[in-house]
Amino acid sequence: LKGLKGRDFLTLADYTREEIEELIDFAQRLKTNYKNGKQAPLLQGKTLGMIFEKSSTRTRVSFEVGMYQLGGNGIFLSSNDLQIGRGETIADTAQVLSGYLDGIMIRTFSQTDVEELANKANIPVINGLTDVYHPCQVLADLLTIKEIKGRLQGVKIAYIGDGNNMAHSLMLGGSMLGMDVAIASPKDYQPVEEIVTEASKRAYQSDASLLITDDAREAVQQADIIYTDVWASMGQEAEQAKREVAFADFQVNRELMQLAKNEVNFMHCLPAHRGEEVTAEVMDGLQSVVFQQAENRLHAQKALLAALMSD
Ligand code: CP
Ligand code: NVA
Repeated sequence: LKGLKGRDFLTLADYTREEIEELIDFAQRLKTNYKNGKQAPLLQGKTLGMIFEKSSTRTRVSFEVGMYQLGGNGIFLSSNDLQIGRGETIADTAQVLSGYLDGIMIRTFSQTDVEELANKANIPVINGLTDVYHPCQVLADLLTIKEIKGRLQGVKIAYIGDGNNMAHSLMLGGSMLGMDVAIASPKDYQPVEEIVTEASKRAYQSDASLLITDDAREAVQQADIIYTDVWASMGQEAEQAKREVAFADFQVNRELMQLAKNEVNFMHCLPAHRGEEVTAEVMDGLQSVVFQQAENRLHAQKALLAALMSD
């Protein structure tokens, strides 16, 4: 893919609509090839370092397997075991790792730390989730929506829940690609205003709409997709009880699903908590595509890795 080699992937807002569309198409081709038993070793001899300061099932395994399938190697680096956990600076770590690796994926708390790592490293840095963004998840989600709905332009997605990382990346990615996006979050958990402003600019450019509300029932009107995420994200475990109260009206259940279009699908980045943000009935029901989404992390990230790192 032209113009992507050597770039960082810190937020979807750093890419154009065309670049994201090309990545999704490329992911679709890689997925089809893989299912037909064909795969080109696009990253032969390349190594991706994967720094984790938070837990992960999908991100870790899909990046590691993705590198392997492309002929390269992924190294899991727990921040507890790196010298970064004992005070070595991000800047020094970035320069040292640039001497060994061909790319770095990092999952951590602060978006600023990821930006600093990217500034100081001279290899591509990929954001594997911060408190503010989760762009790799949304790349896979866009691929999934395209698979199930056949298009992105004009498809309405309603996100019900915390206005944090998933809401921000979905809002940006969806509005860039022409999706009508509605975000419903409790009053004290609304998305960051700056990101809402950026997303509404993107929505305008792609002839789409963006609605921010605190009413889940309003958000799901005419929705093709209902999406949710956990009430307490990683690092917020101590707020669990308080959040259960604040989010009580933001559960995705049968009643909410019935307010959307008949053919509505349910999505969740996972891990899910049945009985909290989603009922077991919806999560495990026929409209749920959560495992297709999870699988697509692999294919979307292989496209991303090959675009940023292959010769
Ligand atoms: N959705 C997601 O990023 O999952 P993990 O936390 O398991 O990586
Ligand atoms: N909002 C969740 C997403 C996990 C993939 C978290 O940050 O924990």
